[in-house]
Amino acid sequence: MDSPLLRLADVHVSYGGIRALGGVSLEVQRGEIVAMIGANGAGKTTTLRAITGLVRPTHGSITFDGTEISRVTTPHVIALGIALAPEGRAIFSNLSVRENLELGAWTRRRRKGPTLAESMEHVFALFPRLRERLSQEGGTLSGGEQQMLAIGRAMMAAPRLMLLDEPSLGIAPKLVQQIFDSIRRIAAEGTTILLVEQNTRIALEVAARAYVLETGRIAMSGSSAELRDDPRVREAYLGG
Ligand SMILES: Nc1ncnc2c1ncn2[C@@H]1O[C@H](COP(=O)(O)OP(=O)(O)OP(=O)(O)O)[C@@H](O)[C@H]1O
Ligand SMILES: [Mg+2]
Repeated sequence: MDSPLLRLADVHVSYGGIRALGGVSLEVQRGEIVAMIGANGAGKTTTLRAITGLVRPTHGSITFDGTEISRVTTPHVIALGIALAPEGRAIFSNLSVRENLELGAWTRRRRKGPTLAESMEHVFALFPRLRERLSQEGGTLSGGEQQMLAIGRAMMAAPRLMLLDEPSLGIAPKLVQQIFDSIRRIAAEGTTILLVEQNTRIALEVAARAYVLETGRIAMSGSSAELRDDPRVREAYLGG
């Protein structure tokens, strides 16, 4: 079997003296959508920050396509083909939708792939609303539109692996469905996805497999169907 696209082995991260991750191990195979679920403060964002080089693990290994990246700087991680749509969206409020999208494409100069215009069209095919709002300032978009822009910006890098940090956060249920349909389509087109969510129900719908993170450790993992039926998951994450 192929080696996984992403592998974390016993990853530890501390902030100051306080441990946020105490040995996280997980794998994501090419083409998969894998979810990571867990409560506030469990370490989900920290895991994504470790993958993207925004925090440095004190112990453990992170490999992307067989290359060790746990000591690699963020620009290099991005250049390898990993894109992050961060928690809280973090788009540039004073820049237009077009400028936000163009910023997502800055790594493409270093890699082969689609042109800027092709990537823009790809984003608009998924999120037609962004085309209608190209010259609007990012900060004036609705919350759902900002989430579309954050995902669109990550797509502009033509990544091999997309990391999504709580795309459902603060968004109306109807729009959440639409955004998750788009995530499915992005995956169907060949981008591997690691999806962090507190909305366990929708995460288990869209992902084939999931990991449950509790206080910096993987407490459970399995197929989404298995986890949906697990009494502990039902009680703690699905409201009984
Ligand atoms: N920059 C930081 N400095 C100190 N502690 C931090 C820092 N960032 C996160 N932490 C702590 O690390 C732990 C894990 O935080 P993290 O943001 O990874 O959780 P999370 O699972 O993403 O939570 P949420 O669902 O609320 O976003 C928390 O206890 C948090 O307070
Ligand atoms: Mg978080």
